[in-house]
Amino acid sequence: MFDVKKVRNDFPILKIKVNGKSLVYFDNAATSQKPQIVIDCIVDYYSNYNANIHRGVHTLSQEATNAYEEARIKIQKHFNAEKSHEIIFTSGTTHSINLVASGFTSILEKGDEIIVSALEHHSNIVPWQMLCERTGAVLKVIPISLQGELLMDEYDKLLSDRTKLVFVNHVSNALGTINPIKEIIDKAHLKGATVLIDGAQATPHIKPDVQNLDCDFYVCSAHKLCGPTGIGMLYGKEEWLNKLPPYQGGGEMIDKVTFEKTTYAGLPHKFEAGTPNISGGIAFGVALDYMNSIGLENIAAYEKELLDHATQKLLEIDGLVIYGPLENKAPVISFNIEGIHPFDIGTIIDKLGIAVRTGHHCAQPIMDFYKIPGTIRASFTFYNTKEEIDIFIEAVKRAKNMLL
Ligand code: ALA
Repeated sequence: MFDVKKVRNDFPILKIKVNGKSLVYFDNAATSQKPQIVIDCIVDYYSNYNANIHRGVHTLSQEATNAYEEARIKIQKHFNAEKSHEIIFTSGTTHSINLVASGFTSILEKGDEIIVSALEHHSNIVPWQMLCERTGAVLKVIPISLQGELLMDEYDKLLSDRTKLVFVNHVSNALGTINPIKEIIDKAHLKGATVLIDGAQATPHIKPDVQNLDCDFYVCSAHKLCGPTGIGMLYGKEEWLNKLPPYQGGGEMIDKVTFEKTTYAGLPHKFEAGTPNISGGIAFGVALDYMNSIGLENIAAYEKELLDHATQKLLEIDGLVIYGPLENKAPVISFNIEGIHPFDIGTIIDKLGIAVRTGHHCAQPIMDFYKIPGTIRASFTFYNTKEEIDIFIEAVKRAKNMLL
């Protein structure tokens, strides 16, 4: 049984006061808080076996290497990748996407088409625009409905023999929409296109099975799922990772270097130049163990209760509009109150100890679609409670009364 009181004890930060009030942390889509076990494993690495990996015969280096490579295997198992070398450690989702975008520079040709969706984060738009500038490829966008869902009929129309790449997020960071990625992947493959799924916002709530999805690439960041910042992963099918050129040159990614010619290491090292975030990689594995010990299904079921409670209470406030008000979505609510700038609400409720994100959420095209400057985004996770939601609702009402 899921026990939120027990879970909250795992997170030291949940006991702190902010501006004299108990912290209510509803900015989980920006980054999650970290359980003690993740914090401890980072301290343990630096206290007891800090050494560079893959480089030493000495004991500490071997211990560190083993822990890092064990983490890779945990990630492989979590995402059900066929091979551990299909998991590349990166600094996070943005790095993973840029790695793939850079790799396609020598593969795409002028006039090739790339499809993204109108729900993307800037990190899944800008690297592809840059790729288009480098190659002469053309960017196409799947539009959305007012409810914040992808218009799949329009996707069908955009797909053609010219489509080479399709990039969509699994879950929208700004609205919480869960996209029908299996259908998107299957349809793209029928046209011979390659698909990358941005899982940054999905992985805290859903356990993707990359073999079942049959995506070519799947990317995410550890810090959204109780791990540290500065570490993430790129899953890529072996054939694609072999085909793409290295992203960065340096130590560890080589087979042999001479001034005449360098040959590259095999997977995964080909894409892991330089000393990586070793403690981060190890902690990523521990964070996944922690999430799995609670169970992603239990997490998602509890979060749905939080989402429904918050949605119902928020809609009782006059003049409040929720963007992307879907029944089945991630636990994210993006809203505004008529006549009030989102930033003003965010600032007032911060004084009451409540953390939400306000602004465009790195998804300006979505804000343009709704013709708004931004939203207030409350994003929940499994350590939040209905009591916290009630405190938040009262704070929003108070802010509204002060501002109108
Ligand atoms: N991408 C993160 C967010 O949505 C930072 O807040």
